[in-house]
Amino acid sequence: MRLLSVTGTRPQFVKAAPLHAELVKQVELVVADTGQHYDHELSRVFNEELGLGDPDVQLGVGSGSHAEMTAAMLVGIERTVLDVRPDAVLVYGDTNSTLAGALVAAKLGLPLAHVEAGLRSFDMRMPEEVNRVVCDRLSRLLFCPSEVAIANLAAEGITRGAELVGDVMVDLARLLGPLASERSPYPAALGLERGGYALATVHRQANTVQPALGRIVEGLERVAGPVVLPLHPRTREALSGAGLLARLERAVHVLPPLGYLDFTALLRAARVCLTDSGGAQKEAYLHSVPCVTMRETTEWIETVELGWNVLTADDPDAIEAAAAAPLRGPTHPDVYGDGHAASRMAKLVAEPAWRTG
Ligand code: UD1
Repeated sequence: MRLLSVTGTRPQFVKAAPLHAELVKQVELVVADTGQHYDHELSRVFNEELGLGDPDVQLGVGSGSHAEMTAAMLVGIERTVLDVRPDAVLVYGDTNSTLAGALVAAKLGLPLAHVEAGLRSFDMRMPEEVNRVVCDRLSRLLFCPSEVAIANLAAEGITRGAELVGDVMVDLARLLGPLASERSPYPAALGLERGGYALATVHRQANTVQPALGRIVEGLERVAGPVVLPLHPRTREALSGAGLLARLERAVHVLPPLGYLDFTALLRAARVCLTDSGGAQKEAYLHSVPCVTMRETTEWIETVELGWNVLTADDPDAIEAAAAAPLRGPTHPDVYGDGHAASRMAKLVAEPAWRTG
């Protein structure tokens, strides 16, 4: 069976890495990269560190409005499918690359499998929520990382093809977590000690426009102790445009975007993680680091319910208070699986029944 795996953004490289390693044992794998993330720090560095290698097809779509980007991806992925003639398509997460892969598969009548299915923020103002809902509706095989994801799909009437497999990011965190701390020069290279700083990330669309961006800068300024912030290019552009970059640089250590190993090393040694990323919230939990989520909602609700994560939105007072008293829940169960999600998914995807049934 020939499987087309569609990647394109940083979080997709992270999910694809452990899964591709298992998929090549089970299927003929063809990898198409949309090129949504093209900066070295957001793309190639992951391929190199995580052993992904070059994609078979590079669509080189780049940035643009949601419509421009998704339209270019639709055309490129459709051409690729017609050329490669896969038996099924695999997509990851909730980005515009995910949506484009899902729509092409559906329009060409190909069975679609979705990694990280069933996640919901219940906020349709987020582009990612729209992408998730559409993609899950079109998928025949839905790889759910948690019981909550299975329940979310059931509430939308989707039970067929929904499989509780665990989260592939757990596989990677367990495999590379200790190695990251050994190999990376961080946090020592910044003169920082284990437990002696906060790690922050900001990139969501809603947080990179004013007034939210200014409120987040104010919140980060008020966090006690050193704050390290690897800066996403979207946020850098927005900060420059709003005249806030110099002010932020006075208050926090601003770094370029980091590869998986350096980011993981910084996360594992942080006192607290302040973020609006979905992946970082989950990774903070996986490495037992308290999290402050600068959003109104989260898809990773287990981290909040278990007392390891708190939602502050862009409220500077709430950010300051939450960072001063980080939450370490009383228990730390394996709610996202046992670290063997990738092999489970590869076996399921190789079975013919889901494609023909
Ligand atoms: C995308 C995903 C988001 C995911 C994030 C991970 C969508 C709708 N959003 O957001 O869910 O959490 O990736 O990082 O797909 N840019 C560069 N270089 C690049 C890529 C982007 O400079 O390699 C800049 C461009 O100015 C671009 C902006 O960042 O316009 C936003 O990029 P885009 O891919 O639209 O969204 P992300 O914010 O990266």
